[in-house]
Amino acid sequence: MLKFENISKTFNKGSANEQMVFNNFSMDIGKDDFICVLGSNGAGKSTLLNIISGKTRVDEGKMILNGIDVTMDTEYEKCKRISRIFQDPSLGTNPSMTIYENLSMAKNKGKRFGLSFLINKKDEEYFKKILGVLCLGLEDKLNTPVSQLSGGQRQSLALIMAVIGEPELLLLDEHTAALDPKTSEIVMDITEKIVKEKGLTTIMVTHNIDHALKYGNRLIMLHRGNKLIDISGDAKNSLTKKELLGLFKDISDKNLFN
Ligand SMILES: Nc1ncnc2c1ncn2[C@@H]1O[C@H](COP(=O)(O)OP(=O)(O)OP(=O)(O)O)[C@@H](O)[C@H]1O
Ligand SMILES: [Mg+2]
Repeated sequence: MLKFENISKTFNKGSANEQMVFNNFSMDIGKDDFICVLGSNGAGKSTLLNIISGKTRVDEGKMILNGIDVTMDTEYEKCKRISRIFQDPSLGTNPSMTIYENLSMAKNKGKRFGLSFLINKKDEEYFKKILGVLCLGLEDKLNTPVSQLSGGQRQSLALIMAVIGEPELLLLDEHTAALDPKTSEIVMDITEKIVKEKGLTTIMVTHNIDHALKYGNRLIMLHRGNKLIDISGDAKNSLTKKELLGLFKDISDKNLFN
């Protein structure tokens, strides 16, 4: 459903700070893929998501989303088809607005007219139903400002907001990294539940090896814009934490690709 064809990206070309992140990077992402992306700091994980979401333009190569060339599409054009959740819970929701208003805004994303925050009975029922999936009691707090929610509650709400418009692709950029371990597990379970229920193609960047092993059907490890590992199915299921930790050690010991 998403194809990268020979993507290249260098930041600050021609300057002393020149930084090549991708050089002829290609990858095929299937409709049913839930990909966990691992990699050390600076590997290119966020840049990959920035390229997909239109925040960063590639220098060369193509990106094809469901048969349509979206390489030159702006972030605004892409946000109708691609949803993203960030590490910082404050980025996915608007704290000064209520849960109802946030959900209303997400539901009307990409629409120019008709946005109204007046409580609409039909939406109210719908929002209560989808919030019920979280089992966090948010369905009884529709009029509560989001600033009064905990980080975990906000990330869970951000997840619901991200998928309310039925995106073709869900991007998760370390979306549980700022949460305490217990809340992080809860949000991951919610993530898996929503991804499965909606059959969403998902790319999740994480530094949590346990999460990368437990969730998704495919695991990619990036290093300097290259795929050190790209495995799925049984091969992913039989991969161990020890093997992954060994790879991270190899990277730092041998400075691979140098
Ligand atoms: N806008 C930018 N301008 C210049 N250099 C950038 C920019 N964005 C990323 N880079 C550089 O590209 C490289 C890859 O960065 P990226 O943020 O993709 O890494 P990452 O894998 O997400 O790392 P982390 O695990 O620390 O989040 C880094 O060397 C970074 O300094
Ligand atoms: Mg990053």
